[in-house]
This record gives sequence, structure tokens and C-alpha cells, in this order.
Amino acid sequence: MVSSALLLHSTTPPAARAMATPSRRLLLLLLPLLAVAVAASHPAHEFCTAGGDAGCGGGDGARILIKGGTVVNAHRAEEADVYIEDGVVAAVRPNIPVGDDNVRVIDATGKYVMPGGIDPHTHLAMEFMGTVTIDDFFSGHAAALAGGTTMHIDFVIPVNGNLTAGLESYKQKAANAAMDYGFHMAITKWNDEVAREMEVMVKEHGINSFKFFMAYKGSLMVTDDLLLQGLQKCKSLGALAMVHAENGDAVAEGQQRMIDLGITGPEGHALSRPPILEGEATARAIRLAKFINTPLYVVHVMSIDAMEEIAKAKREGQRVIGEPVVSGLVLDDSWLWNPDFTIASKYVMSPPIREAGHSKALQAALSSGILQLVGTDHCTFNSTQKAFGSDDFRKIPNGVNGLEERMHIIWDSMVETGKISVTDYVRVTSTECAKIFNIYPRKGAILEGSDADIIILNPERSFVMGAHTHHSRSNTNVYEGRKGKGMVEVTISRGRVVWEDGVLNIAPGSGRYVRMLPFGYVFDGIEKSDAAYRASLRAPVQRGKASA
Ligand code: URP
Ligand code: ZN
Ligand code: ZN
Repeated sequence: MVSSALLLHSTTPPAARAMATPSRRLLLLLLPLLAVAVAASHPAHEFCTAGGDAGCGGGDGARILIKGGTVVNAHRAEEADVYIEDGVVAAVRPNIPVGDDNVRVIDATGKYVMPGGIDPHTHLAMEFMGTVTIDDFFSGHAAALAGGTTMHIDFVIPVNGNLTAGLESYKQKAANAAMDYGFHMAITKWNDEVAREMEVMVKEHGINSFKFFMAYKGSLMVTDDLLLQGLQKCKSLGALAMVHAENGDAVAEGQQRMIDLGITGPEGHALSRPPILEGEATARAIRLAKFINTPLYVVHVMSIDAMEEIAKAKREGQRVIGEPVVSGLVLDDSWLWNPDFTIASKYVMSPPIREAGHSKALQAALSSGILQLVGTDHCTFNSTQKAFGSDDFRKIPNGVNGLEERMHIIWDSMVETGKISVTDYVRVTSTECAKIFNIYPRKGAILEGSDADIIILNPERSFVMGAHTHHSRSNTNVYEGRKGKGMVEVTISRGRVVWEDGVLNIAPGSGRYVRMLPFGYVFDGIEKSDAAYRASLRAPVQRGKASA
């Protein structure tokens, strides 16, 4: 436990948030030292001391009893109490007696008690497009916990193609983590060394998924040849192959077309990479995964075109997982035509946010199980960084926020509207991710023995989102002014209350790396279908020597 904990409050002045990156960095370095002084200069009720002020969180080993709520797991919702001890769920049943004075009792009457969210797709402290995402593992975790997410899986980017160097760099980036996290790893080049390193990542470092970018020509993009090698290697290791599916060659062509037409603003981003290019790459990746017979995970499904390719493959029995992201589910591309560059550019991400009909179709696909789990692709850049592309949309760093907003937006847009049930809410925001990445039921459930990563959501309270109240370091928010119902009032991370009454109680360095083992459920039976395929070949045919 870090003794001088960092204390954040949801009313941190906007000016502090909008600070340029270097000064923010310096501030974060100093914060552990400044925390006590900062706390002293604010009204006492705004701050807690991480590690266990009475009535304010609780240290490691704290005992908490959540009473009277509706406990929701993906498989069922029930009226029950939840008893937490040593960071783990110790009991889930109705009417657990309070017992002793050292147990903190939280009244959850009329509220939902659910597993903390798990975000399968984030980019914290990522070097990308000539800059670095503004949220690091600390500010990203502050945002996540304030929004009810208690774990995320970030993408390690290799250093010059080298996986070991990439992992080392991300270990350092994650040194200030304040909640649990895991890693996927991107593959950006191919040779025998990379293939060997993939094995080491899986067997020694707890990484069980690798991502292939089919876009970003000239930087992260892979060829079909590399993708095929990678799929094969993933299969042999029991690691899940993930793809960013857009045709990067065609995107480059589309970008040049826009520039030639004199379209240099953010709208050129959407126009240069239409849904057809996402559909094409999704179809191609799906077919190559089918050829190799290995499961495939398609990240940030943004269009009907891509979603329908996934639906078709699933209908045919192929193991394809589709991940929509919050921005794709609730936003539309009209923002990119906004005359104010600062507003328009904050919506630039890839694949682009699409015309309005796409988000509706993606929501329906999520409701019906065609798409399985919701991510954010949280990849934030402030308005200064976005302005790198003020005269050329190709230079606008791609990415939007969402880590703090995901749980609230999905509740409001999907549960409040009756599109999904509360149990499905838990499935798409937490359980499915835990299952796919093989950390269930330690994560993604409120069961005896599960990590006590828990949220308490009040369905009667309303929220308003925006850069003035969020915990991201960005000075903009793509959900600015968005209102809705359903508020995460309490977040518990491994048995500690880290968010309550608008107060964050977190410490840099307290987050834990979660190792994820290979051969998750998506691999079950693959060897049998391989055997069936081999048996179906009726080959090689034994022939006599051909006469000359
Ligand atoms: O625009 C995006 N999506 N930025 C993050 C990198 C990626 O493609 O996932
Ligand atoms: Zn991507
Ligand atoms: Zn991403």
C-alpha cells in the first residue's frame, strides 16, 4: 500500500485538467508528495485517505457488507447481500448478518450490485501518430474507476517490431496503475524472432491475445502474408488473434482522393475510409481465420458492413467475436462536419464514426448477440494534439475517450431503453470479456472467491457528462453535455472502496497486472474440427507412377 496516496475529486479544476502534458507529468510525479497538502487545502468532506479512513473506503483486508441490493451476474439477478473480505467475495446470499463492528456496511437498497466493468480495448500512454495519448495508466484508471470500470486490457505496441522491448516499455508505463489491468500485444512485423517472442509472451508473461492492424499503412499495418503467419502462430499458442479491420491500402488511396479534391478538414477522415473498406477487411480477416481454423476477434466494429460479415460467419458456425465500442454505438458522423475544428477533430477515430443508421444497427446486433462485448478504444488526445492536423486531416491523431463513460452510456442507452436486460448488461460490459480472455470467474462475476471488483448503480439518479467533470486529462469529451439515467455511486476495486459520493480514493502503483492464460473457451474443440477437416480431405490419393 502506498502511504501517501493520491486523492482526486471529481471537481478537480478544469484548468488543471487542461494543462499541457509536460506540466501534468511533473504534477503527477509530485502528487504523492503533495497529496496531504492538497487535501488540507480543500474542505474535509471532499477527500479520503487511501488505506482506510473510517467511513471512507477501507484498506486492504477491509471487510465490507453490501446489504439489500439486487446482485446481478450474467447468469442471474437475485436479491442478496455480498460480503467481502481480503479483497475477495466471501459470501453472496440473502440476509447475511452484520456480525461485528469492524465490518463496513453499505446499504444498496433499490440499487444494482454488479461486477465492475472490464474494458477489453484501451490505449493508455500510447505513442501514436507522432504524439502520446494524454491519459496514462493513472489518469486512465482514475477515469475508469469513477465510471465503474475496474479492469481493462491495453495494447502493448512493440518497439521497432520487438515484443520484449514493447513489453518492458509498457511495464514502465503501467508502474502508476491504480487498478487491475492486462495486456494484449500488437504484432507489427514478422520474422522467426517475433514468432519465438510470441511464445514467450504467452508462456511467461500472461498475454493471450495478439492484434494485427490491417490499417495505418506505413506504421502499424500488416500484410496478408504476415496476418496468415500470425493467425497460424496464434492458433498453435492458444492465443486469440484480434484485428483492426480496414483496408489500409485503399484508405491511403481514399485519403489522397480527398486531398486532391481539396477536402483537408476532419470530414475528409470519414470520406476517405468508408464502411466498404471496413467490410472488405473484416471479410478478409474472417476468411483467413477460417482457412487457418482459429478464432478471430474483430475490434471496434463501426459499420453495418463489418457487422454483417460477422453475422454471416457466425451463422455458418465460425468463431468470430465482434466488439462494438461506445462511440460507434451512440454517436454519428455529423460532428465531423462541424465548422469548429476543435469540435470536429475530437470525433476523429478509426474506423470512423459512421452515419446515424450504423449505430442503431450495431445496438441491435449487440442486443441479439451478433456482437458480444463492448469496449471503448479509449485513446485520448487533447485539443492541442488534435490541432496537429488542422490543415490536413491525415495528421489528426486518431482516437476518442470512453473509459469513464462506457458503463453509464450502455446502461442509459441499452438498459434504460429496454434493449437489453440487466443480466445482459453485466455480460456485455464485464463477464463476456472475462470469459473470452480466460480470467472468469475471478473477474466478471460476483461469486464466492471472485475478486471483489464491484459497482453499485443507482438506476434513479441522472448524470451529465463533460470535460469539466471527467477524470481524463483531456480538455475535450466526445460525450460533452450528454445526459442520462443510472449512476455508479460506488466502485470497489479488489475490496477497497475507491469511488464513493463523487470522491476518488486511489493510489498510484496499487494496480495489479492480471496474467491471462492461453486456450480460453473459444479454443474448445478446435482440435476436433481440425481432425474432421483432415479426415474430409480424401487425400493424398495413392497413384502409380505417371507414364512418360
Ligand atoms: O482511432 C483509433 N481507433 N485509435 C486507436 C488505435 C486503434 O486503431 O485502435
Ligand atoms: Zn484500431
Ligand atoms: Zn484501439
